Order: sequence, then C-alpha cells, then structure tokens
Amino acid sequence: MSTSILVTSASSYGSTQEVAEDIAATLRAQGVEVDLRPVREVKKLAGYSGIVLGAPLYMFHWHKDARHFLARFQRELMHGLPLAVFAGGPIEDTSEQWQDRRRDLDQELAKFPWLTPVAVQLIGGKFDPAKLRFPYSLLPALRKMPACDLRDWPAIRAWASALPEKFQPIVAH
Ligand SMILES: Cc1cc2nc3c(=O)[nH]c(=O)nc-3n(C[C@H](O)[C@H](O)[C@H](O)COP(=O)(O)O)c2cc1C
Repeated sequence: MSTSILVTSASSYGSTQEVAEDIAATLRAQGVEVDLRPVREVKKLAGYSGIVLGAPLYMFHWHKDARHFLARFQRELMHGLPLAVFAGGPIEDTSEQWQDRRRDLDQELAKFPWLTPVAVQLIGGKFDPAKLRFPYSLLPALRKMPACDLRDWPAIRAWASALPEKFQPIVAH
C-alpha cells in the first residue's frame, strides 16, 4: 500500500503555494513521501494515501481551481481517500474577521455535502495592495488596505505535523 501524500494547491498571488511548499517540507522532515504540485497539474489520485488541498478565499469563495479539483475527484474522495483542507485567508487580524472567514470557508465546503475532510484549517493570508491586478486594482477599498502577512508558520507546521496520523486508515475492532 502506498504511503505517499499529495500536497496540492491553487494560488493566484503565490502565498498559498508557499504554504503548500512549507507543509510538504514539514511532512518530508517526518519521513513522509510527498508529491507537491499545483491542482491544475494533478491528473489522478491513484497511489496516494492522503491528500492535502489548499487554496485561498477570494470574494468569499474558495479558489475555483480547488472547487474544480473536488468535483473532478469526487469519486476517489468519497470512497475512503482522506483529504485535509487549508485555506488562506484573513488579511485583517481581528477575531471577527477570523470568525467570518471561517464561516465563509465552511459555507464553501458545504457545497460538497459528500465531503468529510479529516482536517480543515483557516490560515492567514498575505496581501500587498501594490501587487493588485485588474480588476481588483480598480477597487479603492482594496487599494487603501495595508499590506500584511498573517501566515502563522509555527501554527501551519503544527497542523501539518499532525496530518500523517489523521491519514491512517481507520481499523475496525
Ligand atoms: C481581491 C481580493 C479578494 C479577497 N477576498 C478574500 C475573501 O473573501 N476572504 C478572505 O479570507 N480573504 C480574501 N482575500 C485575501 C486572500 O485570500 C489572501 O491574500 C491570500 O493569501 C491570497 O492567496 P494567494 O497569494 O495564494 O493567491 C482577498 C484578497 C484579494 C486580493
């Protein structure tokens, strides 16, 4: 049986990709075999014993590449292949923002009622108004927001370190 884990992510500005790279490195440091690739490059899930799927929230919705990934691989993910999910993320560090963004993520995942992730983690986002691209570069409210990086690396690594145990098949007694 394979023990390889797929860490796959969608990312528009690169910050989620960096988190995926860090999660992959954390798992490899534990001796886990890891395949790291963007969601669009994943052609099949055969051979993996667990999947880590990460993507940012944009305008209250999870990145469309992540939603397409879930739809594409529904059959495998419904039938015993464990999936852990992470999403970035808040770019204002208030408890209200964290709660509201977590609610948004839960609503997005609820669109896949067949899905039961073994772990779901909201991580902080990274934002730089100077790097906004069209059409978001036209929105004054976004342009006025301060740059930030709310990714909490120790928390991300702690979350990643706990994943191999969650990917273990459940043994019936
Ligand atoms: C135009 C825009 C819209 C965003 N909308 C949301 C949102 O609805 N909820 C949220 O939590 N974060 C939102 N964010 C923050 C992003 O999720 C955050 O910047 C994330 O780190 C971006 O990931 P990426 O660099 O992998 O693309 C938004 C950011 C931008 C630029």
